[in-house]
Amino acid sequence: MRNTLIAGNWKMNGSTSANAELVSGINAGAPATDSVELLVCPPFPYLAAVLADTAGSKVAVGAQNVSAHESGAFTGEVAPSMLADLGCEYVIVGHSERRTLYGETSVDVAAKFKAALGAGLRPILCIGETLEEREAGQTEAVVDEQLDAVIESVGIANFATAVIAYEPVWAIGTGMTATPEQAQDVHAHIRSRLAKHDAAIAESTQILYGGSMKGENAAGLLAKADIDGGLIGGASLQAADFLAIANAAAQG
Ligand code: PGA
Repeated sequence: MRNTLIAGNWKMNGSTSANAELVSGINAGAPATDSVELLVCPPFPYLAAVLADTAGSKVAVGAQNVSAHESGAFTGEVAPSMLADLGCEYVIVGHSERRTLYGETSVDVAAKFKAALGAGLRPILCIGETLEEREAGQTEAVVDEQLDAVIESVGIANFATAVIAYEPVWAIGTGMTATPEQAQDVHAHIRSRLAKHDAAIAESTQILYGGSMKGENAAGLLAKADIDGGLIGGASLQAADFLAIANAAAQG
């Protein structure tokens, strides 16, 4: 049985004091059940403080991006080994904002995924289609291309510690959530794509849904067989909102 992972992607939000308040609220209200895992992904400058504030709690910490390089002359970049050295467990790779605003290609994303694994981090690979692509009937082709680029680069065995997040671009930050059925269809497709390579990995890999997930719609999404958690932006910035999702997961 796969655990449910409720992950907060804080994006470029927060401050020392706001983060401390958010983390203490999450720590205080985290559901006790082991089957629900919690993760927060703050901006780089706050990772160390959030790691300190979550030490000994059930909240894991991840970064939102990482370099594909190990060290050297890459001004402004952060190496996977640095994140691991700090104590981060996860890193998000291939978020649609990175792909569209910063031109990251599937090849770049595969390189980051590989580098993250090399440092012992668990990559959260984000994939998903735009509204135009969905309306053109290309959803499966788009997620296949984004997934296959990584499988071809690292091999299916390297998905053993990875997480996949299906995030339809049209649902991110728009309030337009995919219906549980729409999400489940794509999640099942992703799992079957993994299964073509390795049935055991397909069965154990957590596939999160992301895109305007909130307390009110989380239970319906998380009830679906292939939806193993959420990657949450807007609703991860207030402890009560994030915990509403975590509690929906715990009750499911
Ligand atoms: P959202 O963001 O929950 O604000 O839609 C999700 C994400 O981008 O990971």
